[in-house]
Amino acid sequence: MNHWLLKSEPSAFSWDDQVKKGVEPWTGVRNHQAAKYLRSMGKGDQAFFYHSVEEKRIVGIVEVAREFYLDPTAKEGNWVCVDVKAVRPLFRPVTLAQIKAEPKLSDIPLIKQSRLSVMPLDERAWNILMTMGGAVITIPLSDLPDPGARAFVLENADGTKTGGFVLRIGDVIRAYVNSCPHTGAPLNWQEDRFLDYTQTDILCSMHGARFTPETGFCTIGPCKGKQLTPLAVEISHGMIHVRPLS
Ligand code: FES
Repeated sequence: MNHWLLKSEPSAFSWDDQVKKGVEPWTGVRNHQAAKYLRSMGKGDQAFFYHSVEEKRIVGIVEVAREFYLDPTAKEGNWVCVDVKAVRPLFRPVTLAQIKAEPKLSDIPLIKQSRLSVMPLDERAWNILMTMGGAVITIPLSDLPDPGARAFVLENADGTKTGGFVLRIGDVIRAYVNSCPHTGAPLNWQEDRFLDYTQTDILCSMHGARFTPETGFCTIGPCKGKQLTPLAVEISHGMIHVRPLS
């Protein structure tokens, strides 16, 4: 799957319009390089929806629902469009000013070719922008065993770091801060070992407290009745996005 950024003037077609429409042709592109990118898009590719002109910020995520075809709004030439559908708004819109202030994004087309209305984003830039948009961490669903868990480190806005983990047991996928309510110690005794040997409970390796995977509540142990700090989890197109609960 490739990633893109699509610019739209909100006074002409806004994120709210996209949400109302659901699926909508992305028409009106009359720049050869932008059109070339439209022709390169595959079904299922995702793109940031960027409000240009007065707002200058990424506000949502869309997905390519239909690959390129002749743009019905073009009076001449073989300009093309794709159909896109709304996936979700960003947890936190990302402004152009924030993007310009992030040195790791200095080479993306939004900065280098600012007039382009359709542009590719590599995976690194996509993930940085997803993080800036409130998805603290992004993990491919295929990287998470079932049953199993994966540890990660959250980078907070103030520069501090918080350990966390995401677990999967069948349909249950949850994420928590990796801190036992008993003493604040990390729960795991090895990198990704958060579950007990039967893979049904979260287990604290320090003093054996057990936690229900669905809720994070301790059922047995010195912190019985207390809860792990949950993190918000969203699954979209094979990717798990984790962020703090707001
Ligand atoms: S630190 Fe977890 S049970 Fe004691």
